[in-house]
Amino acid sequence: MFLWVHYTDMVIALLQLPVAVAAWWAAPGLQVGQTARPRLLAAAFALFIGGAVLRLVAGVLLLPWGWEFAGPRLVFVAPTLAVAATLYLVWLRSARKPSGEAPVRYGSGPACVAAVVGAVGVVLVAAVAQLAGAGAAVVVGFAVLGASAMRWAYRTLRRDHVPARVGWWRTAARAAVGMALVAAAAVGLSAASVLPARSSMTGGAADTGGGTAAGHQHHGGISVTDLTGADTTASAGGGDVAVRRFTLTAQETTVRLDSGMRVTAWTFNGVTPGPQLLVRQGDLVEVTLVNRLPGVGVTVHWHGVDVPNAMDGVAGVTQDAVAPGASFVYRFRALQAGTYWYHSHEMSSVQVRRGLFGALVVLPADAPAQDDTVDETVLRHTWGGEDGVATLGLATGVQRRSVPAGRQVRLRLVNTDGNPATFTLTGTPVRVVAIDGTDVHEPGVLPGVRILVGGGARYDVVFTMPDRPVTLRADGPSIVYSPHGDAGPDRTAAPAVLDPARYGTPTATAFGTSSHFDRRFTLRVDERLGFYDGHPAVLYTLNGASFPDVPMLMVADGDLVEVTYVNRSGQHHPMHLHGHHMLVLSRNGRATTGSPWWVDTLDVGPGETYRVAFRADNPGLWMDHCHNLEHAANGMILHLGYTGVTSPFLTGSGTVNHPE
Ligand code: C2O
Ligand code: CU
Repeated sequence: MFLWVHYTDMVIALLQLPVAVAAWWAAPGLQVGQTARPRLLAAAFALFIGGAVLRLVAGVLLLPWGWEFAGPRLVFVAPTLAVAATLYLVWLRSARKPSGEAPVRYGSGPACVAAVVGAVGVVLVAAVAQLAGAGAAVVVGFAVLGASAMRWAYRTLRRDHVPARVGWWRTAARAAVGMALVAAAAVGLSAASVLPARSSMTGGAADTGGGTAAGHQHHGGISVTDLTGADTTASAGGGDVAVRRFTLTAQETTVRLDSGMRVTAWTFNGVTPGPQLLVRQGDLVEVTLVNRLPGVGVTVHWHGVDVPNAMDGVAGVTQDAVAPGASFVYRFRALQAGTYWYHSHEMSSVQVRRGLFGALVVLPADAPAQDDTVDETVLRHTWGGEDGVATLGLATGVQRRSVPAGRQVRLRLVNTDGNPATFTLTGTPVRVVAIDGTDVHEPGVLPGVRILVGGGARYDVVFTMPDRPVTLRADGPSIVYSPHGDAGPDRTAAPAVLDPARYGTPTATAFGTSSHFDRRFTLRVDERLGFYDGHPAVLYTLNGASFPDVPMLMVADGDLVEVTYVNRSGQHHPMHLHGHHMLVLSRNGRATTGSPWWVDTLDVGPGETYRVAFRADNPGLWMDHCHNLEHAANGMILHLGYTGVTSPFLTGSGTVNHPE
C-alpha cells in the first residue's frame, strides 16, 4: 500500500511537469487571441489540477504512516493547487465575459496572462523541487522567469498584437530551442554535482543533535590514526592473549559457479567467499592485507565488529586505500563473540559485488574446546548485480549435506547484498539465537522460520538434527541437511516471518526508551531524481542531502545517542553504523517487546520509521551509510564524528580513496 501510493504520487508529479511546461508555453498566446491555445491551456490546467487533487488524496492516504510521510505532500501540494485553481477560476470567469470589441475568447490582456504564466510557473517549480530537489528548482525557476521576461519583451517591442500564422518550421525551431535550454540546464546541474577532487570528512557541516558541546574541533584534536585501541600487543593483560595471525591477499581469480558460469572475481586468497576467519573471544587478531589486484586499491572493513577507529578499514576516513603491491596490518582484540563479515571498503559497491568479502566468526570465550556442533556460515551473494545469479557460497542450486541425527547445528546466515534476502528453514523446530552477532535473550522455539535478512545483516539459527531432512532456502539457492546427505528439499509450507521486534523475552539493558538522551538525530530518507558526481541518478537523500553535504552527526565520548530513521522512499535501506551497536527502541512508533534487539545494520523498509539508541563509547570518525552499496555510491553516506577527532585522509577523484 505504501509503495503503491508513493510511486503513484511520484508518477503523477512527473506527468505534471510536461503539462505545466505546455501550459506555460501556451499562456502568452492569449494576448494575441489565438484560439487553439486557450483550449490547450484549459486542458493543461484541468489536468494539472486533477493531478494535484490526486496527490492530496495520496497525502491523506499516508496519514496512518505519520505526518513525516503525509505532511510533505499535503504542505507541498496544497498551496500550488490553491494558486493554480484560483487563477484558473478567475481566468475562466473572465473568459465568459468577453470585452466586446475584439474577437477575443477566454481571458486575455497582460494582467490575465501574467496571472496564468505565474500560476503555471509556481506549479512547475514546485514539481521540480519535489522531484529533483531545491537546486534544480532554483535553476528551473530562473529559467522560467528569464524566458517569460524575454518572450514578454519580444512581444512588446514588436507590438505583435496581430495573430500571425506560425509555420510548422517555426514551431519546430522553438521546440528545439526549448529542448536545448532543458539540455543545457541538465548539463549545468550535472556539472554542478561533480564532487570535489579532494574532500575531508571533517570539512563539512555538523549536526550536534541538540547536544551542548561544540561541533568540530580541528585544533589540538586527536587523529584517527592514533585511535588504535588499548591492549593490542600480545603482552596485554599479562601476556596470555592468544594472537591469531592471518594474511588476506586481494587478487583477481576466475571462479566457477556450480551453474557452470565463469566469473572474473576479485578474491581474498583466491577464493570467494574469502577464507573464514575463526577466532575466539579475547584473541588478538592480526590480519595482513596484501594487494595484488590489477591497478586498484583495497582495504578491509570488519563489518559489525566495534574495532578501534584506526582499524576500521574505510578508505579516505581511517586509512589510505592499500595500493597494488603494498600491504597493511590490521590489529584488534576480538571482544564480541558472534557472526561478522569482512569486506573491502574501497570502491565497495564494485569490490564487494566482485567477491572481496568473507566471514569472521568469533567463538565465545566460554565455548567448550571440544564441541561437535555442526557450525556452518552461509553467505548469500548475488553475482552480476542485484538481478544477477544468487548463490550460497558459489552454489546456485541445491546443495546436500550429511549430518547425523541428534547433532546440534548452527547456521550463520549472512546477506552480502544490498537488498533483503529471505532465508527459510523448514523441517525441524528452530531457534534464532543471534542477530548481527548479538545473542537473542531467551529465543523461543519456532516450528520453522522465515527471516528477512537485510543487506549486510547476520542471523544465527540453531536446531537439533532430526532424522528427517531440514531445508534452508535462500530465495533461489538452497541447502538440504539430512542424516545420509541424499534427501531432496522437504515440502513443508512456508513458516511465519520472524519479527525481531517481538521475538525472545525482554531483559535489562543499560539504556532504553525512557533514558535521557544527550543527542537526538533524525535521518529522513527521500527519493528523487537528480545528478550525483556528474551522472544522472535516483538519489536516496538523507535529510535532503547527499554525501558530502549530509551534516556529520557530532557526539562526545560517553554520550547516549538516539537516532530516528524515517524511510520516505520506496526502497529498503539497510542502515549500517560503523563501530557501534544500536539498540532498536521502536518500529513505526511501537516499542519493541521481545529480547533487546541489537543491530549494526538495520534494514529500514519503505514507509518504516525506526528509533534506535547507542552509547557513543568508541571515539573516532565512523561511517553511517546505506549498505545497499549502490545507494551509498550515489551519496547515501554520512558520518558520526566524535568531538576533537580529525582525519588526515581525503576522498575524491584527486585521491586514492573512493570508499564506496
Ligand atoms: Cu559493511 Cu561501511 O560497511
Ligand atoms: Cu539505501
